[in-house]
Amino acid sequence: TTQELESYLQFGIRLAQLAGPVILEGFNTRFSPERSALLVKKGNTADLVTEWDQKVEKMVRAEIADKMKDHSFIGEETVAGGEECGLTDAPTWIVDPIDGTTNFVHGFPFVAISIGLTINQEPVVGVIYNPILNQLFTAVKGQGAYLSKIDENPRTQGRRLPLSHPHPAPPLPSLSMALVAGEYGSDRKTEVIDPKVKSMRNLSARDPSSLAPGRAVGHAHGIRCLGSAAMNMMAVAQGQIDVYWEVGCWEWDVCAGIIIVREAGGVVVDGCGRQVTDGQLLTGRRFLIIRGCCGEDGSTTPEATAAAQK
Ligand code: IPD
Repeated sequence: TTQELESYLQFGIRLAQLAGPVILEGFNTRFSPERSALLVKKGNTADLVTEWDQKVEKMVRAEIADKMKDHSFIGEETVAGGEECGLTDAPTWIVDPIDGTTNFVHGFPFVAISIGLTINQEPVVGVIYNPILNQLFTAVKGQGAYLSKIDENPRTQGRRLPLSHPHPAPPLPSLSMALVAGEYGSDRKTEVIDPKVKSMRNLSARDPSSLAPGRAVGHAHGIRCLGSAAMNMMAVAQGQIDVYWEVGCWEWDVCAGIIIVREAGGVVVDGCGRQVTDGQLLTGRRFLIIRGCCGEDGSTTPEATAAAQK
């Protein structure tokens, strides 16, 4: 019920209030002598995890286990630690304790905890909190998306999203008028990086004849990489970025972002332009996120889809 979802939102905000000061402490002490001890290598030298990621996830997970006893949990560090966490229809909290770990390590302020709740595999509550910039993004299915400060009531003291466009956002006229976000990701194998570089090139190239046939049409206004999937998605939700495309994200990177972007009038689809269920979307690791629908039927821009297909 709406009332239940509202109580889950309040719980999600409490989790963010708990985690925020811990993330901030880690961020502010990153140049301390023990900094080197914070870095633990995950898959490769560009795939970072710190003790702070683990500490925050442990804390949030314990709180969920304590207060939401019949709910499931999927967390980035829990999965990295080897636990099996398949997505089911049960209410499931999907958490990235620090999205933008590389930013966190370097002091680049696009860092957030991302807390999403799925029911029947559909994201229904989203809380994303950047404690560095004190930005709290929240949404409940059907109730709109908001930006506030952590100690404010999002609906009465916050601002409804998107900030700069009417709600819902007007159609994106063309990719060539868009500000686009994309990421190179942490998997730097040549076969992974090369197509991404090619896509970035297709999105920026001025001369259409230099593009592969049937691919992106014309150059976008610009390309940005904020280094955090959650922050890229919140830039879309605010109306600052028009399209965000990424291959390689995990469900904890995008679960909260999906419901917030949707409630801000945006669209989240599979990055290959396929029709998929939310469950497949969450676990498929390819995303195309657009600030507004193109067609009246909710379809996305063909150009954006073409660009995303490289
Ligand atoms: C990563 C960031 C990055 C994106 C990756 C994510 P993490 O999350 O969001 O921007 O490119 O796909 O996995 O590792 O910082 O939590």
